[in-house]
Amino acid sequence: MRCPKCLLCLSALLTLLGLKVYIEWTAESRLSKAYPGPRGTPPGPTPSSPEPTLPANLSARLGQTGPLPSAYWNMQQWRLGALPSGDSAEAGDCRAWGAAAAAEIPDFASYPEDLRRFLLSAACRSFPRWLPEGGSGQVASCTDMDVPYLLLAVKSEPGRFAERQAVRETWGGPAPGIRLLFLLGSPAGDRGPDLGSLVAWESHRYSDLLLWDFLDVPFNQTLKDLLLLAWLDRHCPGVSFVLQAQDDAFVHTPALLDHLRALPPSWARGLYLGEVFTQAKPLRKPGGPFYVPGSFFEGGYPAYASGGGYVIAGRLAPWLLQAAARVAPFPFDDVYTGLCFRALGLVPRAHKGFLTAWPADRTADPCALRDLLLVRPLGPQDSIQLWKQLWDPQLQC
Ligand SMILES: *[C@@H]1O[C@H](CO)[C@@H](O)[C@H](O)[C@H]1NC(C)=O
Ligand SMILES: *[C@@H]1O[C@H](CO)[C@@H](O)[C@H](O)[C@H]1NC(C)=O
Repeated sequence: MRCPKCLLCLSALLTLLGLKVYIEWTAESRLSKAYPGPRGTPPGPTPSSPEPTLPANLSARLGQTGPLPSAYWNMQQWRLGALPSGDSAEAGDCRAWGAAAAAEIPDFASYPEDLRRFLLSAACRSFPRWLPEGGSGQVASCTDMDVPYLLLAVKSEPGRFAERQAVRETWGGPAPGIRLLFLLGSPAGDRGPDLGSLVAWESHRYSDLLLWDFLDVPFNQTLKDLLLLAWLDRHCPGVSFVLQAQDDAFVHTPALLDHLRALPPSWARGLYLGEVFTQAKPLRKPGGPFYVPGSFFEGGYPAYASGGGYVIAGRLAPWLLQAAARVAPFPFDDVYTGLCFRALGLVPRAHKGFLTAWPADRTADPCALRDLLLVRPLGPQDSIQLWKQLWDPQLQC
């Protein structure tokens, strides 16, 4: 050690330089995809820690610090939140949970039919896979040699063949590090035509359909999230990121990949990224969409990412499953995901490039899309056209 001071100076200089590079790099990754559109989202709260935790008593985390609430969901959560970790809502007969809800909610009979149906079966969360006869069209597990960087998990419905095909031919097409899967309920006719044989053919042809044996209706969409998480845990535990999207979304996949690759590791580890709603409240207009009766739920929604499309870190899959065992069933899948993240102590990150209620007059404009990551809704034809235009070398913006 001939010059300890020089060494000290040198290391201090290097640290400063590193810091500068890091700050510039994160600032750029935050700003470059910003879209100065009319529907900007307010930034979510800053997370205190990127690491998920699940305390024995969830009440404070879920904002329940007062006396026993009277709305049914809040009451259930108050009890469930205080259980020792590991106990789950599904212990015993899941139908009993629904029967109890029907008996204990005073105005249950006046609830909309789909909400009543939801509550009666809400605690039933394990369903077998729906497999076409002969068992062909199995979705392959990820292998050590082939762990996707980004899994595109697209919620579809059996009859939406054109929407799925458009995704395959555009933003969900084969690319390094990308894997595409569609999540569906049963195609067997219950309320509509029996699509079993058509879906079986599609499944055999593309091997990208994860089907389960439950009725594919809006209030059953949380089942797709939970069953996907369980599938990931078993068949694809190494995936870095999972995009959860609707089949009418349009994803600018290369831009999304760039964004994810540029994230600081500490953000990436607890990622929950999308168009974030921080002040949403239940709608109380009976007969309207997303109506939630006051006797079922009181208070505001947690900050959550719009279900039209959001990205989570793959490593959170087992955590979210554990959280879901301790968060009472709620009919809207994206709000429910927000509740589970909140239970884990993680908050969503807003990105202005996610526009899940994109104005229809913009769909034709590839230039508007160049700086965005995900928009919806778009029909299959519009998606195909937009994808072509995006890749057109003549495109002038
Ligand atoms: C859980 O936490 C809430 C709020 O901090 C508290 O009121 C309640 O008594 C706790 N429950 C148990 C079983 O410890
Ligand atoms: C969800 O699927 C299950 C199983 O098919 C069914 O019993 C339940 O009624 C469905 N939920 C709704 C809201 O229709």
